[in-house]
Amino acid sequence: MTDRYAVIGNPIEQSKSPLIHTAFAQVTGQDIEYTKLLAPLGGFAAVVDTFRASGGRGMNVTAPFKLDAFAYATDLAPSAQMAGAVNAMKFEGDKVYAENFDGVGLVRDLVHNLNCPVQGRRVLILGAGGATRGALLPLLAEQPAELVIVNRTVAKAQELVELARKHQSGSVPVRGIGYTDLSDQSFDLVLNATSASLTAQLPPLWASVFAPGCLAYDLTYGKGLTPFLQLAKQADVTRLADGVGMLAEQAAEAFAWWRGVRPDTRNVIEQLTVPLI
Ligand code: ATR
Repeated sequence: MTDRYAVIGNPIEQSKSPLIHTAFAQVTGQDIEYTKLLAPLGGFAAVVDTFRASGGRGMNVTAPFKLDAFAYATDLAPSAQMAGAVNAMKFEGDKVYAENFDGVGLVRDLVHNLNCPVQGRRVLILGAGGATRGALLPLLAEQPAELVIVNRTVAKAQELVELARKHQSGSVPVRGIGYTDLSDQSFDLVLNATSASLTAQLPPLWASVFAPGCLAYDLTYGKGLTPFLQLAKQADVTRLADGVGMLAEQAAEAFAWWRGVRPDTRNVIEQLTVPLI
């Protein structure tokens, strides 16, 4: 019998997850069906209950339901606890296992696809929202030379620093600062984890943050050259990337968790790539 999976969100039309998971199923020979589910605001649990009752095996969760999924889960993985949000669920009997694969997806994209090791590098991450929270521990596990979180609201960056200090197993120096404190510092890896690119805005960043040979990475995808990537390009950064690889890698992690087989992501990344011009 075909196993059923779905992505749930509101809106959901834009989701690439069905395309990605259907492609993964084809290359791995897995017999699954993967659909989109639109849930009304406030109606998350009812839609998931119905899906589970009809034999659904797992789900991806997108906005605005990542916190609802957090509350719905019976077993939260450390990644979900740390991120404070859930993006994948697996249903087994009464159990709802919940994960957040965004952070590992990001690191896998950096290290394996972009050939940009994090170890020993100076890393700057812009923003102190959900995206940064999810990326924090997977980045620290790679043992960068340092990790700096910069945010407009400095207190939020500092809260995440406290969280990182409490949970990281190594001893990577982590700092939380405001944009004006950045003026004389440069980094080997600059990650834009703000929501600014979604509205074509630019965080108040200095071009001098990009060290020679640096990689500028925007966690959003499909937007082409965002204002952040444009700034990097104008600062002569030649290594630019958006989050298409992160999207594919977090999906591959979920697929492997559900099906026990890890799909190759290259074709999916190629298919979804929007040129950075
Ligand atoms: P997400 O879950 O996508 O991370 P979020 O939790 O709302 O969304 O966080 C959005 C982040 O983007 C915040 O760090 C926000 O900064 P503030 O905390 O200071 O509000 C940041 N952000 C949004 N628009 C921005 C902009 N134009 N410039 C700089 N930072 C921006």
